[in-house]
Amino acid sequence: MSNHIATSRISGFHKMSPADRLAAVESFAGLDADAVAQLARPGNLDPHIADHMIENVVSTLSIPIGIATNVKVNGRDVLVPMATEESSVVAAVCNSARQCYEFGGFTTSVSGTEMIAQIQLVGVGDPQAARIRILERKAEIGAACDECDPLLLRLGGGFRDLEVRVIEAQGGPMVITHIIVDTRDAMGANTVNTMAERLAPSIESWTGGKVYLRILSNLADRRLARARATWPAEAIGGGSVRDGMISAYHFAAADPYRAATHNKGIMNGISAVVLATGNDTRAVEAGAHAYAARSGRYTSLTTWEASADGALTGTIEVPMPVGLVGGATKVHPTAQACLKILGVTTAAELACIIAVVGLAQNFGAMKALATVGIQQGHMALHAHNVAIVAGAIGPEVEQLAAVLVDLRQVRQDVATIELAKLRGQA
Ligand code: MEV
Repeated sequence: MSNHIATSRISGFHKMSPADRLAAVESFAGLDADAVAQLARPGNLDPHIADHMIENVVSTLSIPIGIATNVKVNGRDVLVPMATEESSVVAAVCNSARQCYEFGGFTTSVSGTEMIAQIQLVGVGDPQAARIRILERKAEIGAACDECDPLLLRLGGGFRDLEVRVIEAQGGPMVITHIIVDTRDAMGANTVNTMAERLAPSIESWTGGKVYLRILSNLADRRLARARATWPAEAIGGGSVRDGMISAYHFAAADPYRAATHNKGIMNGISAVVLATGNDTRAVEAGAHAYAARSGRYTSLTTWEASADGALTGTIEVPMPVGLVGGATKVHPTAQACLKILGVTTAAELACIIAVVGLAQNFGAMKALATVGIQQGHMALHAHNVAIVAGAIGPEVEQLAAVLVDLRQVRQDVATIELAKLRGQA
């Protein structure tokens, strides 16, 4: 091992191999042999691929992929891979989907596959006239955008529309140009960012102003995925369960403190599929939360109502900027395998399935919260983790987890004592 490194300024770190970087980290942090061996262990992502995905790679992190069953979308059965570290998330989707499977499953649609890029223009004395001058160039702007990506054009995508807004900002008015581009099966960040950068000098020359930012908006409100489903009251435990769930929704709709948690549960499902398919979880999360606040007050991403015949109907509408091409979707072999499981051929189909998982997740959380509470199911699964951390091996994991649940004490200290008892050591 190399001499102890005491500074974070490690010369040439980015040029080292992952193994050499790990050795440097080992030296800096004084890692023990177990920690080094753990970090050096390859998962199902080739270290060479990992090394090209991000900078300064030393290791990879494996997250379980669980499969959500019972999911029917627009009449087609799908198995949905979900990558998450949180117990209960996959089970909740399976259970929720099972309860509406016989009644048609989920119906979905999308608003489109259009992304928005923003170009920020400042320093114009006549912002309203600048706005009109930019709008006059719509045909020219469209042609310049389309020239950036001929392949996208061949695939049926490309420039679709132009919006120019004057906003009042702290330093004075800003003229914000939105280019709206159909990015089809790509998430589209690179495509629209390139177009925005390409257009910036022209916008400066037409207006005499100064362009600073040229970047996509994650409030992808022209790329909404929608899903709905119906659960007859009898299928979910009766009218009082339905009413409790609707009341839970009313709570989230009225109160941002509750809405944040309600939507966090929805994102438990959504982010798990987004991650499993190699898409950008932060882009989807940012878009979802911004969309939830679009009225000026943060609220629920879902709606829940009782239909005329007493059934529970749920809907979700959420920006879903995901793709099948580009980024980690193409590079990460596990993401590719997950897309094969899903059997989707377009980004819109993937977006719809992800929205379904968000709705199903929300159903599961609200049903538990409005009835037995979340801890009963959660603790049963969490008990397995606690048992493993306590040192349980093989069948001991199941046995110890059951003991902890029976005792209603899913705690590490109790697990250690109970494991010793199981082994006849106490
Ligand atoms: C936990 O990860 C998610 C929930 O808090 C969601 C909710 O409260 O609706 C259970």
